[in-house]
Amino acid sequence: MSPTSETLFSSGTIVGAGQAGAALGHALLRAGIPVAAVASRTHSSAVRLATALQAQACSPVQAASSASLVFVTTPDDVLGAVVEEIAHAGGFRPGQFVLHCSGVLDLAVLAPAERSGARVGVLHPVTPLTPPDQADTLVGKPMGCEAGGEAGEENWVCVLARTLGGVPVSLAGVDRVLYHAAACMAANLVVAMCASAEDVFLAAGLDAAAAQALVGSLVTSSARNVTRKGPRASLTGPARRGDANVIAQHFAGLQQIDEELAHAYKAVTRRILSLLPEGDAGDAARERLGAVLDAPLDAF
Ligand SMILES: NC(=O)c1ccc[n+]([C@@H]2O[C@H](COP(=O)([O-])OP(=O)(O)OC[C@H]3O[C@@H](n4cnc5c(N)ncnc54)[C@H](OP(=O)(O)O)[C@@H]3O)[C@@H](O)[C@H]2O)c1
Repeated sequence: MSPTSETLFSSGTIVGAGQAGAALGHALLRAGIPVAAVASRTHSSAVRLATALQAQACSPVQAASSASLVFVTTPDDVLGAVVEEIAHAGGFRPGQFVLHCSGVLDLAVLAPAERSGARVGVLHPVTPLTPPDQADTLVGKPMGCEAGGEAGEENWVCVLARTLGGVPVSLAGVDRVLYHAAACMAANLVVAMCASAEDVFLAAGLDAAAAQALVGSLVTSSARNVTRKGPRASLTGPARRGDANVIAQHFAGLQQIDEELAHAYKAVTRRILSLLPEGDAGDAARERLGAVLDAPLDAF
């Protein structure tokens, strides 16, 4: 018989009261799993989230000892040290479930918890988490899942992902660095480009409200196209058309306001050309834009 959330998870705790910790805490409550405690680097962060989740604010060791399900949601760079510190102080015990939510780290970082007898897992919400957090932030979202010593779709991390409203995606055998880089490209890099587009609209003379509205509308349409047709079939714009003069003007204009952005624009334009299909349209665009892309930016 496969495990159910009722038989496995009676209470949760959050160590690291940031964006992921808040989203997971609210998701636990939504799933009917009470949050016993919240810990963080600073007491004020722990108190803020604990108050929202009707939990106690305490130290990481106390928090970890207070529940069957422990989410360590600190920044990736300190996660190993935090797990080690809790294990060293006796905060983990047999029968507990200890997880992190990092896309790039694997299970090895949880080895101290495993040595204490806990079952360890990775549950990575593949979605950007930003405050304010809502109870349904994670509902319907993919969640990368890996459970120590258990393969397949019915392991306890997959059960937990479904309990929190997510859709499990197995991370067994997946190259985590490339997986995480891809996730960052589809989320963070797109958002950074949107922020830069907003700046360029402002530099063009639009007001802030118009700039935000245009960026929002454009990225919403692009996201809808990508979801429906896939990214390659959704490429539009002057590079795809092979409008070399337009691209040259963009290079010149962008350089005037932000040289680094002009370099980024050029690099992504080169990438667009390499994504266009072999054959008539793609080859023609590559030929027409070749000279513009090969010239240094200060030639424009
Ligand atoms: N944000 C996302 O979109 C997202 C999505 C998927 C997965 N994740 C993963 O979730 C994890 C957390 O990321 P995040 O974006 O939520 O980071 P974040 O917003 O910066 O939050 C991290 C929290 O950890 C706390 N912290 C830092 N050092 C600590 C320590 N030594 N002991 C205890 N708590 C400590 C910080 O506390 P103070 O507030 O007290 O300084 C902060 O509240 C990472 O593994 C990340 O890869 C994030």
